[in-house]
Amino acid sequence: MIKHDVVVIGGGLAGMRAAVEAAELGADVAIVSKMHPVRSHSGAAQGGINAALGNREEDSPDSHTYDTVKGSDYLGDQDAAAAMCEDAPKQIIWLEHRGCIFSRMPDGRIAQRPFGGAGAPRTCYSADVTGLVILHTLWEQLERFGVKVYEEYFCTALAVEDGIGTGVVAYNMRNGQLELITAKATIFATGGAGRMYAKTTNGYASTADGMAIAYKAGIPLMDMEFMQFHPTTLKENGVLMTEGARGEGGYLLNAAGERFMFKYAPNKGELASRDVVSRAEWTEILEGRGVDGCVLLDLRHLGREKILERLPQIRELALDATGKDAIHEPIPILPGAHYTMGGIETDKWGATRVPGVYAAGECACVSVHGANRLGGNSLLETIVFGARAARHAVDYIKTVGDVRPSERTLKAEQDRVKELLARTGGTRAPKLRSAMNETMSKNTFIFRDEQGLAEAVAEMDRVRKEFDANVYVMDKSSTFNTDLVSTFETDFLIDAAYALAKSALERRESRGAQSRTDFPDRDDANWLKHTLAFREADGTPRMDYSRKVTITKYEPQVRTY
Ligand code: FUM
Repeated sequence: MIKHDVVVIGGGLAGMRAAVEAAELGADVAIVSKMHPVRSHSGAAQGGINAALGNREEDSPDSHTYDTVKGSDYLGDQDAAAAMCEDAPKQIIWLEHRGCIFSRMPDGRIAQRPFGGAGAPRTCYSADVTGLVILHTLWEQLERFGVKVYEEYFCTALAVEDGIGTGVVAYNMRNGQLELITAKATIFATGGAGRMYAKTTNGYASTADGMAIAYKAGIPLMDMEFMQFHPTTLKENGVLMTEGARGEGGYLLNAAGERFMFKYAPNKGELASRDVVSRAEWTEILEGRGVDGCVLLDLRHLGREKILERLPQIRELALDATGKDAIHEPIPILPGAHYTMGGIETDKWGATRVPGVYAAGECACVSVHGANRLGGNSLLETIVFGARAARHAVDYIKTVGDVRPSERTLKAEQDRVKELLARTGGTRAPKLRSAMNETMSKNTFIFRDEQGLAEAVAEMDRVRKEFDANVYVMDKSSTFNTDLVSTFETDFLIDAAYALAKSALERRESRGAQSRTDFPDRDDANWLKHTLAFREADGTPRMDYSRKVTITKYEPQVRTY
């Protein structure tokens, strides 16, 4: 049996930051990850990480907090947003001192580019490969502290004994054994759920794992209706074209060659917040001003030198996928599923309502992003809340004695997987995944209404029930059984998608990324509150609205850009 004081599930940025902090504080900590940490989806983050570094008079952690709260359409908890924005400069310096290579201004200070919805250029970056650069910095720190990584271990269940978290059960992908991993504190850092959509910027591994495991164990998912659609993803394959492209001065054009964003956001144009830009693009396309079903990202006027220095990766990605060279031609783009703003309900320390269980990064809903996240706040969230969750967890483990290994959770998982593998026929998981992708993409995209959302809820209910009764794993082998692992992942996505569809149906207003054509206005009188989804035994989400939004300084106002 494996035993540590703290286990972190997930080896991306939030997971590695949590593990390094716990190790620096002297805890016995390990990472459990379905892949090698540097292959995590965090490595796909391009444009940068926000912090009011003090390089500009007009910027401060307070203005960063205000922009974050306004960006969230006032649904973000303001104490959590302030905690993140105040810690941001310290965390950038922490990274810098550990060797993170940020792009520089000519005078040697860390360069910062403008990003959407921000009152000042505050996004620190490493060209357009910022996530990858931070990922490697943190990997070096893991090595430095000798943190044990259980690689190719797929976590399947959370153990809760006498009301407290006591670790997890994980499937060892190399030998097919389920193993008990006992810990006084468990930190989920498993990333997002973008793979519930047919087209997404998310890697194949973004399958809602931690969200669904916590949800199945009784911890609610919060504000799941708010899926962020990034305005610039490649038409061909949904791959991200960083917001940094617009930050560096890129234009969005319609079929008439018009920079249409100023009709929708007279002050900020292309640098309005993401929900506003995505809606504007989709409106242009729906009203017939698109180009072959998309709009164009034009970088030509930036010039070859700037594109190669600041945006080399997206130029290559676009060239590979479309054959178009951004130096000479505009790139066809569309809004695409990018970031799950909802997730495991936590407080501003990453603690869930089950003692000993934490969440950080995209799988968590702290909530700093509310109804719409600002670009550049995602990398920041992983670093700030990974560290905060670890600090709280390290304090917490000092208050608990030895924890009992949850043999019953292990036995329940062994029985469940044995029963699954004993099935000799039924419905294949990819079929159910396609059904989910289809209904989510059609009915829970940028514009939503009662009829479409009710259809998505009904379909997800059918998919949930069909999965439970009939899903069939064809491969019975115990060595790298990817059929079984992807069936686990489909199970998790179904739970997250069902919660998203139901949360969106019930929220009868428009706020941030939830745009209801049948309820076009924000309705603070009735809906300035968080959505909590609890999982019933049959997989149905039960809604609860008891969690209020924390408002400290900023009263909700009409939001314009
Ligand atoms: O556009 C981007 O580079 C993405 C950044 C983010 O989601 O924060």
